[in-house]
Amino acid sequence: MGGGNMGTALVRGLLAAGWAPGSLAVAEADAVRRSVLRAQLPGTEVGPEPVAADGAVVAVKPADGESACRSLARVGVSRVVSLMAGVRLARLESWLGSDVAVIRAMPNTPALVGAGISAISGGPAVREEDLEWTEEVLGAVGKVVRVPERSLDAVTGLSGSGPAYLFYVAEAMIEAGVAAGLSQTVSRALVLQTLAGSARLLVESGETPQGLSARVASPGGTTEAGLRVLRDRGVAGAFAQAVAKAAERSRELGR
Ligand SMILES: NC(=O)c1ccc[n+]([C@@H]2O[C@H](COP(=O)([O-])OP(=O)(O)OC[C@H]3O[C@@H](n4cnc5c(N)ncnc54)[C@H](OP(=O)(O)O)[C@@H]3O)[C@@H](O)[C@H]2O)c1
Repeated sequence: MGGGNMGTALVRGLLAAGWAPGSLAVAEADAVRRSVLRAQLPGTEVGPEPVAADGAVVAVKPADGESACRSLARVGVSRVVSLMAGVRLARLESWLGSDVAVIRAMPNTPALVGAGISAISGGPAVREEDLEWTEEVLGAVGKVVRVPERSLDAVTGLSGSGPAYLFYVAEAMIEAGVAAGLSQTVSRALVLQTLAGSARLLVESGETPQGLSARVASPGGTTEAGLRVLRDRGVAGAFAQAVAKAAERSRELGR
């Protein structure tokens, strides 16, 4: 439900993972958006209301959550995954009915390019097969980890908001390159590939960030000189505060 950014990314991911177009359906409230989706997703049913299915994903904004869940309850879907930030399992269950298996998930924007990570958490009526179904669906747009519901605020502050922290780092590094005398174009190219390549190295080498860092930062060298500035300026502490603050805000919004 909801053919916006997340909903569309998910459908695209599922199609790319081999799901048949006719096995998926999108419920989208906006008529203009529906015609765009019909053109983009041939063979997939696109309508204003949900249809009966073995599972549904709620990808509408939290303010539209209650009406979306109540219409799902009317068509009788037995398993529902909510992507809505801050809407707790207890509330979802009150809208959907206690016999529905309800799972909360917190994805992040790299899902739009199939490289997201989602944390999921199930309510009391959830069975192992419901969690596996959720892992398969969200696995179409990235990785999936299981956490208890109480951890979802921390997840929101870390990986939910995390892409924006890294975009902020990218912006600061591009500006730093320009200040050091590079053109905007060259600085941008260097920073983007440095971020993408470093992330890949970190994932593929299986080494710790500290281990990789120690390998580039030889004593008395350039990297060590740069890193010392970041340590002296308390950048690690600033990240810790940013994550804690975002998690606290997520808790407030959930209330
Ligand atoms: N984007 C992210 O990175 C991200 C990360 C974590 C969590 N989330 C969560 O994912 C959810 C979706 O985010 P998004 O960025 O994809 O939002 P979005 O682009 O605004 O998409 C939501 C779509 O759902 C439609 N809609 C609203 N009520 C509906 C209903 N009852 N039935 C069918 N369709 C309905 C909306 O139509 P109208 O415009 O006409 O209302 C809109 O097209 C949000 O709850 C958000 O908290 C997003």
